[in-house]
Amino acid sequence: MLTLGIETSCDETSVALLEGEKKLLSHLVLSQMEHERFGGVVPELASRAHQKVLLPLLEQAFGEAKRTLEEIDLIGVTLGPGLIGSLLVGVCTAKALALSLDKPLIGVNHVEAHLMANLLVDEPPQPPFIALLISGGHTLLVEVERWGRYLILGRSRDDAVGESFDKVAKMLELGYPGGPAIEKAAASGNPQAFAFPRPMIKDPSLDMSFSGLKTAVLYEVQDLRKAGKFNGSQADLAASFQAAAVEVLIEKSLRACARVSARTLVVAGGAARNKALRENLATRSDSSGIKVIFPPLNLCTDNAAMIARTALFHFDHGCADSLDIRAYPTGSLDWPEAG
Ligand code: KG4
Ligand code: ZN
Repeated sequence: MLTLGIETSCDETSVALLEGEKKLLSHLVLSQMEHERFGGVVPELASRAHQKVLLPLLEQAFGEAKRTLEEIDLIGVTLGPGLIGSLLVGVCTAKALALSLDKPLIGVNHVEAHLMANLLVDEPPQPPFIALLISGGHTLLVEVERWGRYLILGRSRDDAVGESFDKVAKMLELGYPGGPAIEKAAASGNPQAFAFPRPMIKDPSLDMSFSGLKTAVLYEVQDLRKAGKFNGSQADLAASFQAAAVEVLIEKSLRACARVSARTLVVAGGAARNKALRENLATRSDSSGIKVIFPPLNLCTDNAAMIARTALFHFDHGCADSLDIRAYPTGSLDWPEAG
C-alpha cells in the first residue's frame, strides 16, 4: 500500500510517500522563509509559496522514492483547519491527482493528524490515553478512547500555546518562528527572574489561558524599556515566560490523567518540540507514575507523513472521500466521528 500525503495548511509545504503503515520512502518539508521579516505568517504569501513549490516537491519526492504516480494506492491531503488559500493549493492538487489517476482520496483533519503522527513510531501508544495537542493554532486536552474517537476535556480559552510563544518572541525581538527562538534564548536565562502568572492553574477545569501571560510579558517589556533595561533581559524574560507556560501545560495534563485515571499521556503538535516541556514533564510524570510519549522531533511540526498516516488509518476503516470535499479554515477535533 503506497500513500501519498500532502500538507499545505500553513507555512510548511510537505509531501510524503508512505509504504505500508510506517515506512517513509520519502518525506520532504519545506518551511517558507517569506514570513520571517514580518514576524508572522502572511496568508497571501503562504498560498503563493505553496503554489510555487508543491509540484517540484512532488516530483522530487517520487524521484527520491523511485516510484511513479501510477504506483500510489491512496492520496491523503489536509482539508482543514488552516489558512484557506494555503489549504486550497494542496486540496486542488490532490483532487487533480485523484481524478486523473483514478485513485481514492481522503481529506485529513490537521489536528487529528498531529496526534496520529504517534502512529508512525515503532511501538505506537495504545489507547485509552490522554493527549495534549499543542500547536500554533490549538491547545487541547483530549481523552482518546480509541484512535479516531475523541472527547475534548479542556482547551485554551484564548491564544494557543504555540501562538503565545510566537507573540512573545516578537515582543522580545527574537524573530520567527517564535517557539524555537524562545527556547534558544531561554537556555541562557533564569526562569525565576520574573514571576509571571500561571493563568487558570488553580481553576478546577481543564481549560487553559495564555493571553494573560502574554500580556504580563508585554507589561514587563514596556517597564524595562522605560527604565532602559530591556536590552540584555531577553534571555531571562524568555526563560520566565517559558517556565510559566510549561508549568500550566504540565499541571493541566497531569490533572486530566488523574481525572480519568489514565496511565499514559501522549503529546503532539509543534510545541511538543519544546525541551523544557519534555524534560519537566518527564520528571513530574515519573513521580505520578504516568508514562509520557512524545513523537520524534521532525514529526511534531507540520509534515505530510502524519497526513499520509491519518489518511491510511481512515481508508483502512472503510472511509473514502469524493471529489467534492471542501477545505475548511476553522474547527478542531470536535466533529462527531473522525473521518
Ligand atoms: O504544529 P505546528 O507546526 O503548526 C500548527 O499546526 O500550528 O506548530 C507550530 C507552533 C508554532 O507556534 C511554534 O512557535 C511552536 O509550534 N513551536 C514551539 C517549538 N517549536 C515550534 N513552541 C515551543 N517550543 C518549541 N521548541
Ligand atoms: Zn500543525
